[in-house]
Amino acid sequence: MEKQRGSFTNKLGFVLAAAGSAVGLGNLWRFPYLAAKYGGGIFLLVYIVLAVTFGFALMVTEIAIGRKTHLSAVGAYGALDKRFGFIGYLSSVVPFIITPYYCVIGGWVLKYFTVFMTSQVAEAASDDFFTGFITQPLAPVVFFGIYAGVTALVVMMGVEKGIEKASRVMMPLLIVMTVIIAGFSVAQPGAVDGLIYYLKPDFSRFSATTVLAAMGQLFYSMSLAMGIMITYGSYMKKETHLERSVRQIELFDTGIAFMAGLMIIPAVFAFSGGSEEALGKGPSLMFITLPKVFNSMKFGTVIGAVFFLLVLFAALTSSISLMETLVSILMDKFGWKRRKASIITALYLLAVGIPVSLGFGIWDFIAPMGMSLLDFFDFLSNSVLMPIVAFLTCIFIGFIVKPKAVIEEAEINGEMKVKKFYTVMIKYIAPVCLVAILVFAVMESMGAISV
Ligand code: PHE
Repeated sequence: MEKQRGSFTNKLGFVLAAAGSAVGLGNLWRFPYLAAKYGGGIFLLVYIVLAVTFGFALMVTEIAIGRKTHLSAVGAYGALDKRFGFIGYLSSVVPFIITPYYCVIGGWVLKYFTVFMTSQVAEAASDDFFTGFITQPLAPVVFFGIYAGVTALVVMMGVEKGIEKASRVMMPLLIVMTVIIAGFSVAQPGAVDGLIYYLKPDFSRFSATTVLAAMGQLFYSMSLAMGIMITYGSYMKKETHLERSVRQIELFDTGIAFMAGLMIIPAVFAFSGGSEEALGKGPSLMFITLPKVFNSMKFGTVIGAVFFLLVLFAALTSSISLMETLVSILMDKFGWKRRKASIITALYLLAVGIPVSLGFGIWDFIAPMGMSLLDFFDFLSNSVLMPIVAFLTCIFIGFIVKPKAVIEEAEINGEMKVKKFYTVMIKYIAPVCLVAILVFAVMESMGAISV
């Protein structure tokens, strides 16, 4: 029996919903710390090149697979060819890894929002504030629990629509705020060096690790290689122009990431010098740097509170879409009701998220290979699993299903402009590059370990 699927009511509806899922902590929190760590301008350049070539091809592919089969990832690959159903299962492992630690970061954002609401910005801007917070045993776990609880409640009650409506107001506001804050950041004494670092590629910093990091970020930020865009595609109307929608989503997503970098990286130079240590802070970078920017602004406490509220919304729309994916996988697989699937998913989030949170404090001994547990999960999903899923998808579409099927789907309403490019990309360039990057990165990391 053919299942009835709802669909997005208007053309912009699809783009906005997909952008709501795509724009989140990936853009605001993850992109700037990677750009800071991996050479600034060179990372930005590699990222943009990958986004318009590889990211474009993969997003068109995933949305087309979804729209063609009317199924989410678990079923869609198998519906195209039984032997390849396993790719769908593999891709659905990814959100199981990402969602718990996503909620841990969501908890940090919630904490910062409350700090700006209840006390003065100077406190959050002091040097050890962030470390003092995440190394505590209880507080970060509580904030994580509240954040995950709100996410679970929204998913359990099926009221995502309300949040999405609110985020349509919050998202444009967020863009306005990032522009203002970036302006302040760039105007700080000493920030110009940071601006140059962020915008001018230094080719001597180019390496396989840069490409791997940029590619992992691309998957993460654009919600690719984890089945999510397939699901979104399954709700997309045939009248919506696929190629154009993909370009709009990419522009939106990359634009916000770019602005986030502009807010944070020049400020790292202004407030902490451009030392490697300051730039290599990793997941903590946004939380350490932005309060210092707010502290230098008039009304910094209010601006900081508004900003973290907006980030909270962007994060929530993403974690809701992540958790919704997990819940629907469990509902489809085991025939559970929404309520039961939501409760079990919430328990799973707690079981994995609590050790991640404690991994910065009393449990830091569990950090494998000198990484925090959060970094480990992040690495496992973005640098290992997602490239593998992307590779398999390219081979599957390139040689089994054939690119023609995707192009036909994209051309239901108007010509696809870059057919040749798409075909060559998905058959040859993307898979060869993926394998090369994975091999290089493994060699590099083994080199790094044996040193
Ligand atoms: N793309 C989101 C972000 O940048 C994360 C996400 C991935 C959300 C997959 C939903 C699904 O934060």
